[in-house]
This record gives sequence, structure tokens and C-alpha cells, in this order.
Amino acid sequence: MAKILVATDKPFAAIAVKGIREVVESAGDELVLLEKYGEKAKLLDAVKDVDAIIIRSDIIDAEVLDAAKQLKIVVRAGAGYDNVDLATATAHNVCVMNTPGQNSNAVAELAFGMMVMAVRNFYNGTSGTELKGKKLGIHAYGNVGRNVARIAKGFGMEIYAFDAFCPASAIEADGVKPVASQEELYATCDVVSLHIPATAETKNSIDYELVGKMPKGGLLVNTARKEVINEAGLIKLMEERADLKYVTDIMPAANEEFAAKFAGRYFSTPKKMGAQTAEANINAGIAAAKQIEGFLKEGCEKFRVNK
Ligand code: 3PG
Repeated sequence: MAKILVATDKPFAAIAVKGIREVVESAGDELVLLEKYGEKAKLLDAVKDVDAIIIRSDIIDAEVLDAAKQLKIVVRAGAGYDNVDLATATAHNVCVMNTPGQNSNAVAELAFGMMVMAVRNFYNGTSGTELKGKKLGIHAYGNVGRNVARIAKGFGMEIYAFDAFCPASAIEADGVKPVASQEELYATCDVVSLHIPATAETKNSIDYELVGKMPKGGLLVNTARKEVINEAGLIKLMEERADLKYVTDIMPAANEEFAAKFAGRYFSTPKKMGAQTAEANINAGIAAAKQIEGFLKEGCEKFRVNK
């Protein structure tokens, strides 16, 4: 009997945990739950004897992997796996997977929630603008970007996308206009929605020069990662350009400075909310549980990210 730990500092909805438990127990395995653990020491203790771990944005670093002597697989219930030390996992012969696409509609919907809030002046009673007819730039056309495009059509937006890894023909096939560079995307669009992962190449890449290309009244929406933003550069730019707005689902390190300096054109959720829906939790959590059982019972490595 394998022992499977759900280690979520930001817990799944209870209904998702129930679904995960059903998958695990009907496969004859044991589920252990560690939620809202706060201190890393609790995580280190919980991983000691488990075969598999389901996580969200929880940090799985070398210390955790060293402590998890029985560990065979970690599944990040979600898309981004920048919170897992892949090299150390590979060195420990631990398989790492994500669950791509399972929470992407939830993130896309939140991007629009924040967009509407920003263009309506954060509901302060003054006249704002509409999204209809505005140019939307989707920065990275993956699962979330595609959902953003689908929803943007309903709003009547003119949709552009840039993705260094997605062929222009695939973007065009969705009725979205591909652009040749990220610079062109920012220079073209009234609203840019970020959907890039945090990698060595993308960290700090959304900077003074790039966002500075946006037209007057530009709005940057971040439901991706805080690490991709060059915060000092964005602060400098927003100081120089009182027309720009920034809304984010990932609280910047410099949140207090953003909030103090840019009242009325800056907003951050207190805790990352993009994937916080029952549906996304159910989809990603149950997919993670099934992927673990498929790996443990049949050796299935689909969705492995540390190949
Ligand atoms: C993801 O990468 O899937 C999203 O950022 C959601 O992250 P979360 O599970 O920590 O909410």
C-alpha cells in the first residue's frame, strides 16, 4: 500500500480532497493530508515516509527531497512547476509531473475579473472604459492564454498573441492575430495579459522598456508569476506614466511600495486566487491523484517534466 501525501499550504476545496481520497483509496492506497502547514518543519516531517506527494505552489526543494526517503513521485496539481527543484528530484530518481490545462479556465476567468475591475477604475464610482473594441495582448499562448482568447471573443476584444514556442498558424487558427515579438505585442495592445512561466529566460523580463511600449492608458494584468516582473523597472515606469495600471494575482515583493505610490491604478490579490475555484481544485487534484496511481501501478510517465 502506497502512502500519498497532499501537502497544500493553500488547501484545495474540501470537495476536491474528497475526490482525491476516492481515487487513492479505491486504488488500495492511503491518503494523508497536510494543509495550512505554515512552517517548513511540518512539511519535512510529513514527507518522511510517503511514496508520492500532491502539491500546489508548495516548495519542494533539496531539503524536502532529502527528507523524503521513500519518495517516487511529486505531482504539482497545476501548471507551473518552478516551485520544484527538478535537478535534485532527478538526482533522487523522483518523477515530477504537472497537470497542464486542469486549472486554466479558472485563471483565465480571474484575469477578466481583474481587467473589468481595472478599466472600471476599481469601482470607485467614476466613468471607466469598456473592454469591447480594445486590443488585448496575450503574452504566451498556452492553456491559460487560449482560454483568455476564448473569453475575450465574448467581450468583443481585438485579440493579439505572442508566443515564442507556438506556431503563428496555431494562433491564427483560433481567430487571434499573432505578432512577431513581445515588443510588438506591448506596443500594439491596450491590455496585456501575462501567461508566461517563470524560467531563467523570463524572470525579470517584463521591464521598464517593454511595458513602456504600451499605448496611453495601458493595463498590465498578471496572473502568471511575480518573478517575471522587473518590479523596480515597473515602479519607475508607473512613476513616470500616470496613465498605466497594473493588476496582479501574485503579490509583488514591493507590494507596499506599489500600493502607496499607485493608489487607484494598482491592485494585488492578498493570496494567489487564479486557481482557487472548486472546479479547478477538483480537476487538478483528481488529475494529480490519477497520474500518481498510473505511475505507481503502471509506470505511466505522461506529464513528466523532469525527463
Ligand atoms: C499554476 O501554476 O497552476 C497556478 O499558478 C496555480 O497555482 P496554485 O495552485 O498555487 O493556486
